[in-house]
Amino acid sequence: MNITVIGTGYVGLVTGACFSKMGNKVYCVDIVEEKIEGLKNNILPIFEPHLGTLVKNSQEKGDLIFTTDIKEALDDTDIIFIAVGTPMAEDGSANLDYIFSAASDIANNITHDSLVVIKSTVPVGTGFKVKDHINAILNERNSNVKIDIASNPEFLKEGHAIEDCLHPDRVVIGAERDEVFETLKDLYSTFVLNHDRFVLMDIKSSEMTKYVANAMLATKISFMNEIANICEVTGANVKNVRLGIGSDSRIGYNFIYAGCGYGGSCFPKDVQALINTAQVNGYEPKILANVELVNKKQKTVLVKKVTDRFGEDLSGMTFAIWGLAFKPGTDDVREATSLVVASQLIKHGAKIKAYDSQATEEFKRTIDDACLESIEFTDGRYDAIDGCDALILITEWKEFRNPDFRLLSEKLNHNVIFDGRNIYDKKIENLGFELYQIGC
Ligand SMILES: NC(=O)c1ccc[n+]([C@@H]2O[C@H](COP(=O)([O-])OP(=O)(O)OC[C@H]3O[C@@H](n4cnc5c(N)ncnc54)[C@H](O)[C@@H]3O)[C@@H](O)[C@H]2O)c1
Repeated sequence: MNITVIGTGYVGLVTGACFSKMGNKVYCVDIVEEKIEGLKNNILPIFEPHLGTLVKNSQEKGDLIFTTDIKEALDDTDIIFIAVGTPMAEDGSANLDYIFSAASDIANNITHDSLVVIKSTVPVGTGFKVKDHINAILNERNSNVKIDIASNPEFLKEGHAIEDCLHPDRVVIGAERDEVFETLKDLYSTFVLNHDRFVLMDIKSSEMTKYVANAMLATKISFMNEIANICEVTGANVKNVRLGIGSDSRIGYNFIYAGCGYGGSCFPKDVQALINTAQVNGYEPKILANVELVNKKQKTVLVKKVTDRFGEDLSGMTFAIWGLAFKPGTDDVREATSLVVASQLIKHGAKIKAYDSQATEEFKRTIDDACLESIEFTDGRYDAIDGCDALILITEWKEFRNPDFRLLSEKLNHNVIFDGRNIYDKKIENLGFELYQIGC
């Protein structure tokens, strides 16, 4: 099939590359010229394992074409995917400007009947609004082109995106006509050869499914973080509690790790957008509002632990931060806990030495400029701790799991570790370390 993917970010680029790997001809369109120029030369705008090889191989075969010219792409296309960003607006709703701008671009350039699939995460009802928007422009153009609309939310995880995309655990499709379901099933059947993983439904339910998936995962995390905080004040250990409850198959072990808060481009904005959708429809959600509240507070627990240990005035002190990305495997720092911890410690007078193998540049671009002069970025994990007063672990990259603790002890002024992801064993206390964790 010939496919156009509009928006070449984490989702658009990964899905475009994966469709091309399956032999489809894929146009990836973006409005940012330098991004497209870079991609033509196999320079990726994001870090995602295995993506570089996939992009390079598909471009060499001619199956993956990067362009800013939407007309060139649409003229040669059977299915159009919209994968542009839907960031959080000031009022917490999803900002749909990019979606409607992409819809306008389609309507102004399409010359044959087409299927438009919304892959971006959009509030319930957006699909129909996009269809109306496209049809209104087509009418103005006196065009007879017919548009079908479908919802096909994306569930990939950054850091694991290629694997998730090539081997999805489910493919959710919302559509109005059987023919549309069949077209998308044909496209995706190459990804799910060993058994049928299609979940077919109406468009509104499909749009809602994506929000509910993210809200449920965020809820599990905030729930467990709240339990961790209760464990701390009662002397229980949340790691043991997790094992104790995870063994119940109704609960399971995943997504019940306590930590220093979730970040990323999706959970915070999607929970907030779902709250907003409920409110504008006259329903006041109680659980969702607190999921976000608990998370915001959880991003500050490491700072509280630091000031409890070293005092409110941290001037003259330097803290090493290991990990800036919102999670391992990505360079994405959107809503990352590292941004909160670094800026709050700086407000307390501290200086920071930070190391992350992938996310340093994104972090520099994202954090307040005023903070930058108090942060030194290093190229190696041990350089970051040199002469620091304590180590703060924020992102659980694998290289941090089993460090040389003797070297840490030599380099740190105090043998103090704040472990925001509970990756270290209490046994390191036998080596003379003070270990502060979340809920244990
Ligand atoms: N990042 C994730 O892990 C993830 C996972 C599942 C779903 N989603 C959802 O997918 C959507 C995209 O997320 P993302 O992280 O890939 O966003 P992103 O911000 O990384 O990328 C969006 C891209 O769209 C481009 N764009 C904007 N308007 C355009 C237009 N009119 N024409 C062409 N290109 C345009 C931007 O330049 C940018 O490159 C969002 O709705 C998000 O919630 C994201």
